[in-house]
Amino acid sequence: MSDFQILDASRETAAAAHPKTFYLETFGCQMNVHDSEKVIGTLTQQGYQQVQTEEAADLILYNTCSIRDKAEQKVFNRLNDYKKLTAQGKRFGVLGCVAQQEGEKIFERAPYVSLVSGSASYRKLPEMLVRLELGEKRITGLDDRQTDETFETEFTARTNRHRGYITIIEGCDKFCAYCVVPYTRGKERSRTSTSVLAEAQRMADSGYTEIQLLGQNVNSYRDSEGKRSFAELLAAVGEIPGIRRVRFTTSHPRDFTPDIVQAIDAVPTLCDHVHLPVQSGSTDVLRMMQREYTREWYLERISWIKAAKRPISMTTDIIVGFPGETPQDFEETITLLAEVQYDAVFAFKYSPRPNTPAITMADSIPDETKSERLQILLDRQREIQRANYSNHIGQTLEVIVEGHNQARGQVIGRTSQNKTLNFTTGQPILPAAGSYLPVRVTKSFPNSLVGESVA
Ligand code: 5AD
Ligand code: SF4
Repeated sequence: MSDFQILDASRETAAAAHPKTFYLETFGCQMNVHDSEKVIGTLTQQGYQQVQTEEAADLILYNTCSIRDKAEQKVFNRLNDYKKLTAQGKRFGVLGCVAQQEGEKIFERAPYVSLVSGSASYRKLPEMLVRLELGEKRITGLDDRQTDETFETEFTARTNRHRGYITIIEGCDKFCAYCVVPYTRGKERSRTSTSVLAEAQRMADSGYTEIQLLGQNVNSYRDSEGKRSFAELLAAVGEIPGIRRVRFTTSHPRDFTPDIVQAIDAVPTLCDHVHLPVQSGSTDVLRMMQREYTREWYLERISWIKAAKRPISMTTDIIVGFPGETPQDFEETITLLAEVQYDAVFAFKYSPRPNTPAITMADSIPDETKSERLQILLDRQREIQRANYSNHIGQTLEVIVEGHNQARGQVIGRTSQNKTLNFTTGQPILPAAGSYLPVRVTKSFPNSLVGESVA
């Protein structure tokens, strides 16, 4: 018997007497949310019980994000707020992108942290937990970014019973000048389409109807078995009996091919939505960002989407105030919004990040100017959305029920285009979460729709 098994047995006895507890808080993107589901599944499998407050936990974990400075600060603030709990013997672990980026420096900034692990090392969590329980004070999992392996686990603890994520590709090889992701999540590695489809099938078998395929750069997916392209994988997931909606995020324009639009047109379960981050409407800024496309090249992809037979909603990410962005460059971003007519824009002020190529450029746009540009952009976009959303009035759209707003007596639904549609039913018993219903749109706002269910 190995030491590992002896430890396992003693842990089981201890667990029966007093189950070890953990608290996990997640910051950042859907990739992190889904990683946390896998971490929760792994810890539960190791005999830990999840609790809802730091105070109730033996082990306090933060799954962190470092995409912008503010996100990174949050974790250090949180650690600071709760460090007093170390006096009660509680242990702290920092997971995710800040862990990978800052590495052992975290032990200097917060000496009471015992575990620092980037996402590429989560496969080793069970082993790291054993070391933690043995009393080791400085455990790191930081060395696996260049791995070919992905973090798949049969123990994923999905939080929603109807909608679930599947990671199909991890990491990013694009190296945009501002972005920390290639350094925190490492090189691109795709799962086989066989394993993705097996997971989707298992989810369908246990009642999931909506699947979201995830990747930092999802459409750069390359099946290592060479069986399916990204578009073919999308279609294959959509054709699994019981699956009613398939989404995917995030797509890079460089890897956006016409067969993705053709798949959406051909397979009804693929949702009417593409998130295609543009970052800037100015070709000069795109060059400085190392995005490797021009405004015109991006707009060509948009024209493919607009030419689809189905009404495909488009959303994007934009960075304002990248070093060297002139008023003219910014104006080109504004005209791009008007040209594309997005249904949502996630806009951010440029934030210099460690290790990235752009860190060597002066952060030349004053914060005040960044804030002004952000506000102008959001104001313009709000008007575009006001018009776009009002076009739905009178339409009947299928929604999945996400929950209920008791105070307003409304049911919260989501359309295939990923729009929130709040509605009333006129019935005393409200439809259950996860059900699908046709709803007629009666009213619109820039960010949501209102309607009545159709009997
Ligand atoms: N500063 C501001 N925004 C950034 N993003 C990525 N890196 C930065 C940065 N350094 C934005 C991009 C990306 C989204 C996830 O976050 O728009 O698409
Ligand atoms: Fe970051 Fe660019 Fe990769 Fe997206 S494609 S994760 S913005 S480096």
